[in-house]
Amino acid sequence: MVQTLERLAKPATAAHPAAKAVPPYSWSKALEAEMAPLYARVQHVVTPMEWPHYAPLIKSINELKQQRNAVILAHNYMTPEIFHCVADFRGDSLQLAKEAARVDAKIIVQAGVHFMAETSKLLSPDKTVLIPDMRAGCSLASSITPEDVRMLREAYPGVPIVTYVNTSAAVKAECDITCTSSNAVKVVESLGAPRVLCIPDQYLAKWVQSQTKVEVITWKGACEVHERFTGEELQTMREAEPGLKIIAHPECPPDVIAAADFTGSTSGMIQWVKDKRPPKVMLVTECSMASNVAIEVPDVEFIRPCNLCPHMKRISLENIYDSLVNLRHEVTVDPDVAHRARRAVERMVNLTN
Ligand code: 13P
Ligand code: SF4
Repeated sequence: MVQTLERLAKPATAAHPAAKAVPPYSWSKALEAEMAPLYARVQHVVTPMEWPHYAPLIKSINELKQQRNAVILAHNYMTPEIFHCVADFRGDSLQLAKEAARVDAKIIVQAGVHFMAETSKLLSPDKTVLIPDMRAGCSLASSITPEDVRMLREAYPGVPIVTYVNTSAAVKAECDITCTSSNAVKVVESLGAPRVLCIPDQYLAKWVQSQTKVEVITWKGACEVHERFTGEELQTMREAEPGLKIIAHPECPPDVIAAADFTGSTSGMIQWVKDKRPPKVMLVTECSMASNVAIEVPDVEFIRPCNLCPHMKRISLENIYDSLVNLRHEVTVDPDVAHRARRAVERMVNLTN
C-alpha cells in the first residue's frame, strides 16, 4: 500500500525539516516480475546490481505522480533510470521550456538544474514547480548578476542583450530576449542589429559569431563541464579509434568545435546520431547523455569521455521521490522579476514556434 500523502506532506519548517521519504515498496520476486518490461528497456546501461535499488523507487514515483497530478520534466543529462523510467517529458532546454508552458498538471518536478525550474515557473506561473535539490545550480548561471547586465547596458548603449537560458530569472529580467543552444544564431539574427551582446557563455558566443555576420560581444562565463574538453584530446581519440565521428555541444571551446564533425544542442546531437547512425561516435558533452541515447540506438558504439555535471547529478530517484512526497523544494520567482523575465523567454519561444 502507498503511504498516505497527508501524513507525509506535513509542512516542513527550518527547525523541523520533513523526514526524507522512504518508498512504500521494496524489492521482491513480484516486483521484479512487474518491473521486468521496464528493466528490459534500460538493461544495457543499468546493471542487475543497481536495479533492485531503483525499481521500488521507480514504482513509487510513478504512482505518486498520478496521485499528485504531477509531471516530471527531465533534461537530456539525467541518468537513465530517471530519463527512461520516471520522466514524462525529456529534452533540451528549449523543449523543456516549451513543455512547461503547455503541460496539463498541477505540479512540475524539474529533473534538471535550478535555472530550468525557474524557466518552468515563468512559463507556468499557476503551477507548483519543484526541484528535488535546490543546490542544483550551473556555473554559467552563477557567472553573471543583474548588476553586471546593467553595467553592460551602460557600456554598450542601444546594443540588444541576448541571454542564454542558463541564467537566473533576475538576469533574464534585465535582458531583451533569451536563447538556448538550439536557437542562439536565429535569436541573434532576429534582432536586426549590427551588434548584439550574447551573454554569459563566451564559448557559445564564439560559436554563434562563427555562424553569423552580426558582431557578437560576450561575457566571461563558461560551462565547467564543456570547458574541460580540448581539441588535442579529440585528436588523440580520432587516432585511437579509426572511423570515429565526434559531435560537440556549442558550450565547448573553439578548438574542440573545430575538431568536431557536428555541433548542436543536446537534442540536436541526439537527432544527429539517430539520423546518421555512425558505427562509432563520441558525444563531447555531459556523460549521461550517451547512456540515454545508447538505449535508442543499440547499433551505435559510444566512445565515452566521462565529464559529469555535478549540478545535474544532484538529482536522483531518491530526491525526486522525496520531492513528490514532501512537495519540496518549491521554486518561486519574485512577481516583478517574473514579469520582466517572462517577456524575454516568451519572445524566444514565440520566435521558435
Ligand atoms: P541544451 O539546451 O543543449 O540542452 O543545453 C543545456 C545545458 O545545460 C548544456 O550544458
Ligand atoms: Fe551548467 Fe554546464 Fe551543468 Fe549545463 S552542464 S547545467 S551548462 S554547468
